[in-house]
This record gives sequence, C-alpha cells and structure tokens, in this order.
Amino acid sequence: MEPMPTRDEVNEALREVIDPELRRDIVTLEMVRSIDVHTNGVVDVTVSLTTPGCPIRDHFQTAVDAAIRRLDGVIGVNISFDVLSEDERRTLSQKLGRGSLPEGALAQVANVVCVGSGKGGVGKSSVTANLAAALAAAGKRVGVMDADVWGYSQPRMFGLSGERAKVNASRQIVPLDGAEGVKVVSIGFFIDQDAAVVWRGPMLHKALQQFIEDVEWGELDYLLIDLPPGTGDVSMTLAQLLPEARFLIVTTPQAVAQKVAKRSADMAEKLNLEVSGVIENMSGFTTPAGESFAIFGSGGGQLLADELEVPLLGQVPLTMALREQSDNGLPVVLANPADAAALAVTQIAQRLIELTPAAPVSLPMAAEPAPALTVLPPKPVGMSLPMA
Ligand SMILES: Nc1ncnc2c1ncn2[C@@H]1O[C@H](COP(=O)(O)OP(=O)(O)OP(=O)(O)O)[C@@H](O)[C@H]1O
Ligand SMILES: [Mg+2]
Repeated sequence: MEPMPTRDEVNEALREVIDPELRRDIVTLEMVRSIDVHTNGVVDVTVSLTTPGCPIRDHFQTAVDAAIRRLDGVIGVNISFDVLSEDERRTLSQKLGRGSLPEGALAQVANVVCVGSGKGGVGKSSVTANLAAALAAAGKRVGVMDADVWGYSQPRMFGLSGERAKVNASRQIVPLDGAEGVKVVSIGFFIDQDAAVVWRGPMLHKALQQFIEDVEWGELDYLLIDLPPGTGDVSMTLAQLLPEARFLIVTTPQAVAQKVAKRSADMAEKLNLEVSGVIENMSGFTTPAGESFAIFGSGGGQLLADELEVPLLGQVPLTMALREQSDNGLPVVLANPADAAALAVTQIAQRLIELTPAAPVSLPMAAEPAPALTVLPPKPVGMSLPMA
C-alpha cells in the first residue's frame, strides 16, 4: 500500500479550497474542524460552515474532495459539515473586519451606536431617546436597546412603561414600537415595575446577548444602545458581543465630568470600540428673556473631544421641555421640535448620519433566522420572562 499523506499535508492541500464569498481559503478561515487520515487510504474531513443553510456547501464538497484526492495514496474522502459557533463566527468576523459575516439577528443592522459616559445622570438616556427619535424623524429605521438593566429608563422615555414584550413564532423577542416607529427593547418589558434586577456576570452576559441576538430587530439603519453609568460589566459584555459598535460619549460641561468621561473613553479604547464623538449635555440654560447661565460650567465637551481627537457632535442645553417630555414619554424632538435642546439633538442626528454609512451594509450571505432560545437566564425572583 502506498504511504498516506500526513495530517499536515492534507491541511496544506486544503489551502486551495477558497470560500467564494469570504474570498479566503478555508484553512486561513479556520473552517477545517478535523482531519483524520486512515491507513486504508481514506481521509475524513470536517468543514465548518458559517451558517447552517450555507448555499455554497456543494462547492466545498467538490473542492475539498478534489484537493485531497490529488494527494498520493488517497483513495477515498469523506466530508462532513458542521456550523461555526456564535463565538467562532464572531472571532472570524472580527478577523475579517467590519460587516463580513452576518451576526445573527444583527445581520441587518447597519450601525450600532453605544451611548455611554463615565458617570451617572449626565443625560445618556435622554440623549439616546431623543437621538433615536430624531434619526427616525429623518427617515431612518431605528432601534433602541436599553442596556441599563439595573436602572432602565427607555420604557418611560418612550411612553411604554408597564408594557410587556411579546415573543414571535421563531421565539425572538419582538421590540415594542415607540414614537416614529422606534423599536425599543428594555429589561423593563420583562419585569414587574420596581422589581430589582440582580444579574451579574454570566447571567447578565446572557441577558444582553439575548437582547442583541434574539430580538426581531429586522432591518435597521441605527441601533442605539443606552449604557448604564460607569464602565463596568455591561460595557465589557457589549464590546465582546458587538465588536463593530461605535461609541458616543455624553458629558456635562464642567472639567470634573470631563475627567470621568475620559475614563469611559479609555475603556472604549481598551475594548477596541471606536469613539465617534462627544455630546455635551446640560450646556447652559437660557431664560425666556434670553439670559444665559452656564449652570454646569462650560468647555468640558470641547476639552474631552480635543483630548480624544474626535468631533464634538453638539451641545444640548438644559430645557424644561426636554425633562418634561422624558417624563411624558414623547421625546422632545418630536413633541416640541423648536425647543433649543430638541434643535441641538436634531443637529447631532444629522452629524451622526454624515459620519455613518447611509444604508445597511450589504452582507455576502443571507441572514439565517436566529436560533431558538436555548439558554435563558435563570429566572431571578420576581421576574417573569415571557419566553422562559
Ligand atoms: N438637556 C437637559 N435638559 C433638562 N433636563 C435634562 C437634560 N438632560 C437630562 N435631563 C434630565 O436629567 C435627568 C437625568 O437624565 P438621564 O436619565 O437621561 O441621565 P442618564 O445619564 O441616563 O442617567 P443614569 O446614569 O442614571 O442612567 C433626567 O431627569 C432628565 O430628564
Ligand atoms: Mg440612563
């Protein structure tokens, strides 16, 4: 009997099998799962596909078979297929760069934008809700994911307090419709009001992952993510789940806040998220008589933007209307577009549109429906996830 090729020789031979969509060979793409060379002249190979219904499976079948049969001593090839895990897909996607692989339910989302800050109460949630509404008013398809599981506020901002999320036939969470068709998902739609969420670590990770991957987001131009204050667990998790997200930092005008915000910028950098800009909020108050007061100081936003070498996207003044509308559940950009804060946020939305691709990136592969919910966060006391 002829000597058989070694495992490494088979591996080398497989470098000529190119994934036509990703335009790289399957060895480089780490899609060769296993190689078994048997003494009887048969080689078993397992190839991982990016999606279960991968349309180019036949191509791989033929190309892998041909590449291995060319080696001396091989008389038969058995090829089996499996599918890359979410983690592997993510790693691959990261390796290939922006938008190269469908990311489950987010395959049809063009821009993921995290809104964060180093400290609490600077207006992240108000800015997120208004920015979302302004983008929607500009004709964009927009979703808001409330990642502040411990202090969620998007249900209130969109007048959806006390509402419950539904689950569709594919067991995906259906976002609730806020004003201007903004799709909203929040932990608040799953728990009784005032029930405390105690998730940390793996449970938190799983819940956030579900909010991203097991939601019927559909096609969106923007998915805005309202982060909790600080730079903890949630941001870590989201950065892992959303390697392509952009980061907007909200800060107040005083220099002290700027130091705190810098911390979150440092974190964004550590997590490899691109900071797209700074938004200064609570930038002064103008009385009806036209007198201006820099209640929280001035200059902090510009300082931070300069330090980070990113644009200051805008300065949002303090207005009664913004605060009232946050409480009334209709973002001020829609309720009172002439309000000074509304005008500022609308301008910021325009700048964001200029900074980001106009349409969802076209992906090389059709998105698969997200897998059915398999792992659900354990049900903490006082919680009722409808799909649990
Ligand atoms: N430009 C503004 N004018 C008037 N009120 C504002 C403005 N921005 C925020 N507020 C008010 O300040 C409070 C805090 O805002 P918000 O909840 O958006 O901050 P946050 O950064 O999300 O807070 P947390 O860190 O708790 O999540 C709210 O009552 C909100 O209505
Ligand atoms: Mg908030």
